[in-house]
Formats: sequence, C-alpha cells, structure tokens
Amino acid sequence: MKQFSITIAGGGSTFTPGIIMMLLNHQEEFPIRRLCLYDNDRERQETIARACEILLKERAPQIDFGYTVNPEKAFTDTDFVMAHIRVGKYAMREKDEKIPLKYGVVGQETCGPGGIAYGMRSIGGILEILDYMEKYSPDAWMLNYSNPAAIVAEATRRLRPNSRIINICDMPLGIMVRMAKIMGLSETDLDISYYGLNHFGWWTKVKDREGNDLMPRLKEYVKENGYDINIETDQHADQSWHETFKKVRDVYAVDPDTLPNTYLKYYLCSDYVVEHTDPNYTRANQVMEGREKEVFTAARDIIQNNTAENCGFQADDHASYIVDLARALAFNTKQKMLLIVPNEGAIENFDPEAMVEIPCIVGKNGYEKINQGRIPQFQKGLMEQQVSVEKLVVEAWIEGSYQKLWQALTLSKTVPSASVAKQILDELIEANREFWPELK
Ligand code: NAD
Ligand code: G6P
Ligand code: MN
Repeated sequence: MKQFSITIAGGGSTFTPGIIMMLLNHQEEFPIRRLCLYDNDRERQETIARACEILLKERAPQIDFGYTVNPEKAFTDTDFVMAHIRVGKYAMREKDEKIPLKYGVVGQETCGPGGIAYGMRSIGGILEILDYMEKYSPDAWMLNYSNPAAIVAEATRRLRPNSRIINICDMPLGIMVRMAKIMGLSETDLDISYYGLNHFGWWTKVKDREGNDLMPRLKEYVKENGYDINIETDQHADQSWHETFKKVRDVYAVDPDTLPNTYLKYYLCSDYVVEHTDPNYTRANQVMEGREKEVFTAARDIIQNNTAENCGFQADDHASYIVDLARALAFNTKQKMLLIVPNEGAIENFDPEAMVEIPCIVGKNGYEKINQGRIPQFQKGLMEQQVSVEKLVVEAWIEGSYQKLWQALTLSKTVPSASVAKQILDELIEANREFWPELK
C-alpha cells in the first residue's frame, strides 16, 4: 500500500499529540512514511515535538519524523498538510472573549466579535501556509481545521480559488457521535442531510442504514436533554461543554423541524450566554488551565523520563475524520463527509458565492457536493445575515477597510447596535495591532 508524507502545521498545538496518537492507531488503513511538524513558535513546538520524537521512536521507528520552523523543510515532499494553527495563541483568544463581554456581548472563539477578531488574524497565517505548500509540494492537499473555519474558508474562496484546500470542522461529527449513542448505534450507521455555514447549521434528516427515520426519537431526547449524554474520552467533556449540549434544547425549540448545531446558541440565546459567562474567567482560561497544562505537562514528563511508556498523551480518536478525509482523497473511498465548500447551487435558494457546510462525496479528485434543496425562511434569513458578516470581514482584510469591519460587527446577530460595534471594534484594533492589517 502507498505510504504518505504528512506535515502538521501548528506543531505546537495542544491537539498535535492526540492527532499523532490517532494516526498511529490507523497505520493499517493509512500508512505514514514521513511526519513533519511545523510551527512558527520554535520553543512551543520544541516541547511537543521532542516528546513526539520519543513516542515515535518507540512505537513507529519506521516513520521518518522531524520538526522545524523552516517552511522549505516542512513543506517539501509532503502529501497532506494537516493545519491547526492559532494565530495569536491563547493570549489572544482570551482577549477575543473578554473584550466583547465588557460591552455585554458574547465573547467566543469563533462567534460574534471574538470570531471576527480571530478571523482577521487567521487569514494571513493560513494563506502563508497554503502558499508554502503550493510552492514546495504543488500536488499536496491541505486539510484545514484552523479556526475560524468559516472566515478562513471564505478568504481562500476569494483569494486562492484554485487551491487544493479543504476546510473541515469536528463539531457536526461530535454531535453525530452523540446522536448515535442516544439511538444505541455507531455514528457510521447514520445517514444524514445537513446544511448551513460552519458553526451555524441544521440536520434535516437522520436515518439508519436501513433508511429508518431516526428524527422522531432523537427529537424526543433533544427536547428534554439537548445532546447531553455521557461519553468517555470525549474532547468535549468539560462542564462548560455539558452546558452547551444541554442548552441545545432551547435552540431546538425555536425550530422543531430540524436538529441544530450547538454553536447556534451564541446567536439565538446570546443574552443567556452573556449572563452565564464570567467575564473574568472565560473558556480560554479553562483551556489554558486544563488541556494546555495537561498536554504540556505530559510532554515534559516524556522528555524527562526519556520514554513515552505510560505517557499522558491520549489518542484523539474523535479526530479520525481527518484520516477519513485523507484516505478518501488518497484511495478514492467516496466517503460521505460534511465539508465547508462553495455553495454554487447546492443550497438552491442561497447565495451561490457563499462557503457552506454540507455533505459531500470525497474521492481522488476532490469532492462532489450533495444538493440540499431549498431551505426555509428562518434559516435562510439567519444564514444570509451571518454569511454577510463573514464576507465583510474578508473584504475588510483585503481592502484594509475600517468601515467594512465596523459593518461586519454591526451586522453580527450577537451585537445590539452600531455604536456598541464601534466601541468593541476600537478596542479589538488596539489589542490586535501586531496581527491585523492596518485599517483605514
Ligand atoms: P494552540 O495555540 O495550542 O496551537 C496552535 C499552534 O499554532 C501554536 O503552537 C502556534 O505557535 C501555532 N501558530 C500560530 N500561528 C502560526 C503560523 N502563522 N504558522 C505556523 N504556526 C502557527 O491551539 P489549539 O487549541 O491546539 O487549536 C489549534 C487550532 O485548531 C485552533 O485554530 C482551533 O480553533 C482549531 N480547532 C479546530 C477544530 C475544528 O472543528 N475545525 C477543532 C479543534 C481545534
Ligand atoms: C469544537 C469546534 C472547534 C473549536 C473547539 C473549541 O470542537 O468544532 O472548532 O475550536 O470546539 O474547543 P475548546 O475546548 O478549545 O474550547
Ligand atoms: Mn469547528
């Protein structure tokens, strides 16, 4: 079987060890000959990479492993770039979350003003990586799950329309694992229809392999519990995630014809979210004191003990969708997957020039979209507003336009008025001087 060369961009990410462990668990279906970590923060990456080096020496010595901050070295001779960068790191995520909250507005990694601020930082970082890949390995695929994926995807649609990049998110799959558990099935048993934007979508059908409609029973559960159900070794296991899954019942109540993505709570229940967030201790603080500490402590232990036996790294099995995507492209598996792709009529009564999240069939030549038909007025209205926010952010980034970014914030459903939008924007500009293009 063919063996592949992989570059992980954002080598210093808290998700890198889990992804590598997951890749090791899938060596039979997706064999690797070379694995290279790339980051632009040498020191942060070094800790993760040295620990992974020890791990790989013990568990897969045949893999040619390396790590570097040199793009030529990282992107030469690669088949797949798996990208999970965070431009500005957690220090900036914390500001994205806390600045809007000062004005009584949702402070979130990918939604509302925080997501807009993160988008303005991410676009340049992602384009840079894509350009390195095209320069050094023009036939490679970039599988991007760096956030905010909706804005990043729109930026690549506008600025690199012919690039081999596919944007993907784990949230729908994470929810489908929960749906399957509710039904006593495995997620591979589910056949679904779904449409929306990234972190902004709805299931319209959930069936089992025999074609039986599972929606009625799922709805009964969701009406009472949302998607809250106990799952071991889940990425979304923290208390705050439980609350998010529970809150789905209120989002569901607004449109009981569909089942919603968890992220809609930030738009449809924004007052509740603000009231239930501590403006001095947000999700970024939880992650810095939780996942980041755990992963870096485990890495330092491995380095100190010079062995990864009984180590604290845990396989991120939920991330096997990344292997599924790479395998589909490499081996033409024709797997049905939810991807973030140009609409071009797939949602019939929605902007053809929008990046939407819909099921696609993935094979050797990329993906084929599955048409999702016409969508109802409620979803259409929400999506038109949100996609306009995303497009205005990208236009603001390209043109260096203060006006368009102000419009983007003003249009966000999470923001109550143009004046609040302006105050938040002015503070975000100060905080992001190092990262954003200059706005005029
Ligand atoms: P992290 O801060 O731990 O890691 C990100 C790494 O990216 C850091 O080591 C940083 O130095 C590096 N980096 C920043 N800018 C870079 C650049 N221009 N070039 C190269 N490297 C750069 O973050 P994390 O919490 O592990 O998350 C990583 C990313 O994955 C985030 O964007 C997060 O939102 C995303 N994510 C997405 C999904 C999804 O559903 N799409 C799921 C999980 C995480
Ligand atoms: C989900 C989303 C990701 C997001 C992550 C945040 O998995 O799909 O896009 O980055 O949650 O999780 P965190 O634990 O960092 O808050
Ligand atoms: Mn996501």
